[in-house]
Amino acid sequence: MSGGIAAYKACELLRRLTESGHDVTVVPTASALEFVGAPTWAALSGKPVAASVWSQVHEVPHVRLGQQADLVLVAPATADLLAKAAHGLADDLLTNTLLTARCPVVLAPAMHTEMWEHPATQANVATLRARGTLVLEPAEGRLTGKDTGKGRLPDPGEIFEVARQVLARPEGGADLAGRHVVVSAGGTKEFLDPVRFLGNRSSGLQGYALARAALSRGASVTLVSANVDLPAPAGARVERVETTEELRTAMLAAVQGADAVVMAAAPADFRPAVRSADKIKKAADGSAPALTLEQNPDILHELATNRSRPDAVIVGFAAETGDSTGSVLELGRAKLARKGCDLLVVNDVSGGAVFGSGENEVVILGTDGSSRSVPRAAKADIAHSIWDEVVARFAL
Ligand code: CTP
Repeated sequence: MSGGIAAYKACELLRRLTESGHDVTVVPTASALEFVGAPTWAALSGKPVAASVWSQVHEVPHVRLGQQADLVLVAPATADLLAKAAHGLADDLLTNTLLTARCPVVLAPAMHTEMWEHPATQANVATLRARGTLVLEPAEGRLTGKDTGKGRLPDPGEIFEVARQVLARPEGGADLAGRHVVVSAGGTKEFLDPVRFLGNRSSGLQGYALARAALSRGASVTLVSANVDLPAPAGARVERVETTEELRTAMLAAVQGADAVVMAAAPADFRPAVRSADKIKKAADGSAPALTLEQNPDILHELATNRSRPDAVIVGFAAETGDSTGSVLELGRAKLARKGCDLLVVNDVSGGAVFGSGENEVVILGTDGSSRSVPRAAKADIAHSIWDEVVARFAL
């Protein structure tokens, strides 16, 4: 870690890494030790802590740590650390470790907005990304003082998730680096009045897993989130919406120039024809109000048939139950053709088990006739299989 106030949040990150069985050596800069002292890092990691190349010299730590690591993760990464890493400076143990590491490197920047936005920092970030380093986007919100803006360290749990996914794909690399992807997640609410709505059972877990997986592969991610109560994935730009109309507006804006779009959200097909400005009251005679619905726009169809970029890869989801007109896969093929997208992720929801569950089982259908079955697995793994299919289509 380098010397920012967010170093205290790295204690939580370190805890998660050690509790999940990882062998962690903490390498603070001298400034990081001004914020959190060596005893804290030593106690939490169970290992000695050194910031300088001049301790334990006989073990040649300035070379050994980087060479032996499976992952180097810097959180928080200050503007100064980014500059040193971009230019290959090595004046302490951390920067020496960065120069000797051949494993994946993840940097989680945290600094004031002005420092992040400065052309020097942005140029350094671009240099590091071009070199294959995963530099997360900072989160927005309250900064050290009373000001707010972009520059916060992402949630430690979310940084941990990035680290976990990078470690799980040691050979995978940042194959989405330089790509901008847009993912929708969650289920829309269609309001009857100021307090009541029609909704659906989508949890947003699969969409959030897609966003996290893409971030761990180096993509710049816009996540359009409909009514999901989950922490923002580290580095994602999150746009929050409630209704299908808002989702449509946000998606049409977000997909401009995007390389890939995944519609994992469950927009409601219908909405109340009238949204009452006042709360609907009970009738004195005990009669229930009649509800008239009208159809919502089909966002996926619109994105796929009116593309902002002809070569963008557009992915839809289909939650199907087989019926008298066809099997789940037959209905999926028909839907793929009807929607006009390039890939359709089909899941069989006959049992209702997928909603809110951490696991899923899908078949990914392609317009080229391809069909890939992904057996029951964590939604994070399903997400990587979907990105594998997208990346394969980028290569065509
Ligand atoms: N979708 C969309 N806009 C809608 C409804 C659905 O963009 N108004 C997208 C979903 O995000 C998903 C895909 O379309 O990626 C399939 O959704 P689904 O509800 O299965 O499709 P429908 O067109 O509603 O088909 P069905 O007639 O089977 O309900």
